[in-house]
Amino acid sequence: MNLKNITIIGPGALGILFTTKICQKFPHVFLIDHDRHRAGRLARKGVAVVEANGGSVLRAFPVVTADAAGLGRQDVVMVLVKAFQTDDVLDAIESLSGPETIVVTLQNGIGAGDILSRTVPRQNLVLGVTMHGANRRDESTVVHAGSGDTILGMFDPGVRPVGRLYTFAALLAECGFPASIVDDIYPVLWKKLMVNVGINPLTALSGLKNGQILEHPPLRRIQEAAVYEAFEVMRRLGIDIGMDFQGVMGLVRKVCRDTAENVSSMLQDRMKKGQTEIEYINGAVVRFARKEGLRAQVNEMLCNLIEYFTSHGWGFGPFDK
Ligand code: PAF
Repeated sequence: MNLKNITIIGPGALGILFTTKICQKFPHVFLIDHDRHRAGRLARKGVAVVEANGGSVLRAFPVVTADAAGLGRQDVVMVLVKAFQTDDVLDAIESLSGPETIVVTLQNGIGAGDILSRTVPRQNLVLGVTMHGANRRDESTVVHAGSGDTILGMFDPGVRPVGRLYTFAALLAECGFPASIVDDIYPVLWKKLMVNVGINPLTALSGLKNGQILEHPPLRRIQEAAVYEAFEVMRRLGIDIGMDFQGVMGLVRKVCRDTAENVSSMLQDRMKKGQTEIEYINGAVVRFARKEGLRAQVNEMLCNLIEYFTSHGWGFGPFDK
């Protein structure tokens, strides 16, 4: 089965990374940007990826538009907006979807899939994680900061993946994103969630890069406490990732080291003085803990701190100079 077209929603760092790289092998890629003016600029200038290691540059000129309805039915729709923007793109997804369109999200955290399931039929909804990292250089260019696996699975683990998903995974692999399909995506999502729980809010609050967190014992202590709560909640939910807590901490620290030079996505949001994905990361731990009759106080504290600073433009009080 061949794919006819792919639409990527969201011209953020990951959106530009996937669009540029997929365009090298597959010509029918559309990029949706809700901001018409920026969509016009991206269409004219094109989008680009700079490889962090050798500095080689890939460029592509996809169709970029704010008008999803004009594109018609797509074979694959990739949702790469921030998790908190998911609600805003449901109409676009609806207008791009036919009965067989698969909708794939690689958004951070847990919760965006539930929002998508309001419009996307369960047999077409695919959740995933990617270990690729991208940092924005300017509005049309990203630096490909880190590579890794991309893992996909059905929103409803009881549903068998359709053939089209295998074709899409093969295309991703051809484009430099080795991808696998698993029967149950939830352990994979929780494993990645714990990495984000332990890195994202601490980098945003401290202004440090991922690797620098490990140099500060107080931040390491908070990291361990937050990840411990997430691990306990996950265990209570009966999700088995095949690792004990020490193994998970080893993974979180390894990601800090492997992505040492990364400005985490939440720190990038802070630098733009924008909203963050805290509700889908540490907030998800808090919500699941409550459902299970537990409390996740460290995660709750991190959510409150991020909420405070976000709503005050990340400024400090009047005595801070
Ligand atoms: O959100 C992010 O920035 C990334 O998921 C990660 C793994 C923390 C690397 O920066």
